[in-house]
Amino acid sequence: MRTAVFPGSFDPFTIGHLDLVQRGLELFDRIVIGIGRNSQKNELFPLSFREQALRELFRDEERVTVEVFDGLTVDFARLHDARFLLRGVRSVQDFAYEQSMADANRLLDGIETVVLYARSEHACISSSLVRELYGYKKDVSGLVPYPLP
Ligand code: PNS
Repeated sequence: MRTAVFPGSFDPFTIGHLDLVQRGLELFDRIVIGIGRNSQKNELFPLSFREQALRELFRDEERVTVEVFDGLTVDFARLHDARFLLRGVRSVQDFAYEQSMADANRLLDGIETVVLYARSEHACISSSLVRELYGYKKDVSGLVPYPLP
């Protein structure tokens, strides 16, 4: 059984994240979406909302589970018997960040990070972009695969 944890703050989860999960299901038997805290970012949507919205989104996909976690991603992965982390990159900026996180996580626990390149049409879609547009009351329904409050 190949299990991957897909960790992120998902504030909110975007169509880019959804695409990564769908593509990840080609590689892994099971994906555990781990909603964690990024201490560098201010949160907009409550954790409980993100958890509920994602559980609903993946209700019919039995190979995907959704959990909130505190603490280190590697500890969360171990808890779920996951030997892989799934992450996406859109740009060289993402690449540098992902490389240092993957290195740190491998050093911490020997866990392997599998990185998928975002589709080019998703290159500019980020949770922070959605939060900004949402703050200006713009319609972001095409960018987030579930309704926002
Ligand atoms: O969607 P994000 O904001 O890029 O997600 C970042 C997240 C939550 C995956 C990252 O901050 C994280 O792994 N946090 C848990 C703490 C941890 O494991 N830190 C060491 C990572 S090298």
